[in-house]
Amino acid sequence: MTRGRLITLEGGEGAGKSTQIRALDSALSTHGIAVTTTREPGGTPHAETIRGLLLNSEPGTFDGMTQALLHYAARREHLRQTILPALEEGGWVLSDRFSDSTMAYQGYGAGLGRDLIEALHTIAIGTFKPDLTVILDLSSERSQVRLDTRAEDRNAYELLDQAFHDRVRAGFLDIARREPDRCIVVDATLPEAAVTAAIFEAIEDKLGLP
Ligand SMILES: Nc1ncnc2c1ncn2[C@@H]1O[C@H](COP(=O)(O)OP(=O)(O)OP(=O)(O)O)[C@@H](O)[C@H]1O
Ligand SMILES: [Mg+2]
Repeated sequence: MTRGRLITLEGGEGAGKSTQIRALDSALSTHGIAVTTTREPGGTPHAETIRGLLLNSEPGTFDGMTQALLHYAARREHLRQTILPALEEGGWVLSDRFSDSTMAYQGYGAGLGRDLIEALHTIAIGTFKPDLTVILDLSSERSQVRLDTRAEDRNAYELLDQAFHDRVRAGFLDIARREPDRCIVVDATLPEAAVTAAIFEAIEDKLGLP
């Protein structure tokens, strides 16, 4: 049995991660691939409980370090219980956010720095990395416009100021610059179908289809 692939979708609030996960799920399923879609923080019942702690808290409840520890506790569970079993069965996993979000939000946004997040990554999940990471790039201004048109209440991260979100965006772009083999950056202002096509091309190019 060939091991499956993990593709992660990253980017700021409202960049189109959930929209693109749905489109890719259907495109890859058409190619006969068994797809599992999942999200972070979350992806197992206990990790979803940690998600609730992180996203439903008032901003400032946890400092960046506590957030990073909670994200990695949830990620370790997600990896062990959901992602690795699916990959071992040959399935492909599409995750709405993964470790690059902790690097971007806590490492760059909250200012913990790259070294600390890399060390935490190694402690929690070793050398594991996604096979392909898609960074949907959107300015904080455009992100705000998309959030304003949405009905739901804002979560703890969505309530943070524009300067924080500018650091997160710059962080994602820096991650992509440092790991060009694993990461692609897609302009999230393109029409939905054009974003999907760009991602699909990268999948064929970098991973190949079975
Ligand atoms: N390429 C696009 N062009 C214009 N609007 C888009 C595009 N992709 C998604 N949208 C719209 O932007 C909003 C946010 O999209 P979506 O929920 O997929 O983003 P997200 O990255 O999952 O957001 P969140 O971080 O809040 O989960 C939705 O209203 C969606 O319809
Ligand atoms: Mg979403």
